[in-house]
Amino acid sequence: MTSSDNSEMAERAELARRLFAGKAEFFWGTDKLASLPPATRPEIAFAGRSNVGKSSLINALTGRNALARTSHTPGRTQELNFFEIGEDRLTLVDMPGYGFAKVSKEKVIAWTRTIQEYLKGRPVLARVYVLIDSRHGLKALDHEILDLMDSAAVSYQIVLTKIDELKEGEAERQREAVLTAIHKRVAAFPEVILTSSRENEGIADLRLAVLTLLEERGG
Ligand code: GTP
Ligand code: MG
Repeated sequence: MTSSDNSEMAERAELARRLFAGKAEFFWGTDKLASLPPATRPEIAFAGRSNVGKSSLINALTGRNALARTSHTPGRTQELNFFEIGEDRLTLVDMPGYGFAKVSKEKVIAWTRTIQEYLKGRPVLARVYVLIDSRHGLKALDHEILDLMDSAAVSYQIVLTKIDELKEGEAERQREAVLTAIHKRVAAFPEVILTSSRENEGIADLRLAVLTLLEERGG
């Protein structure tokens, strides 16, 4: 690698950092598709099983402690929550978790339907980050969500969370396992990001991925 490559990389990392260092503000929450916010900016959504660390990752990305509400108990986020990032640059969407949650079965069914409909039918949705707990890997419910996005041609990328909980070397093994599991999936971005919101690991990589995505869309 030449020194000009190095300085270009440093410059891009700085641009990515700045993208998330400015405005980060909650502006809309709903559990109904009929009342989504106007689609004025590219949206990036965070999906995954309950308790996988979606809200924590949004906090880590934006460097805020409590922008998105987190909890030890699965089922904390019960609406689609929309955050404006930068001055009108993009919207991050914190989603309720799918699968088991400590709320009523009816609620889980209702919000699973909302998640599915949102993922299928939101033209401004630029990418979905699908979070997978690195200790557990991809489960049947995750595959169902991936199937849905493959058939709706919604671009998504897998993010492994909580890698601070893994032993040395285990995170790389999980990355390989996920890559093998998704290699035939048409809408999957063929790279996996390893993260720990707790240890701030992989957060800069994720910021850079988002920046690249916005640039590709001309934003
Ligand atoms: P729901 O809104 O209920 O679907 O959950 P969520 O996916 O938004 O998860 P949330 O961010 O609320 O975090 C769930 C639990 O995981 C909390 O106890 C967090 O402290 C913990 N957690 C989140 N990120 C990490 C991480 O990087 N490492 C570890 N060890 N724990 C984490
Ligand atoms: Mg949450």
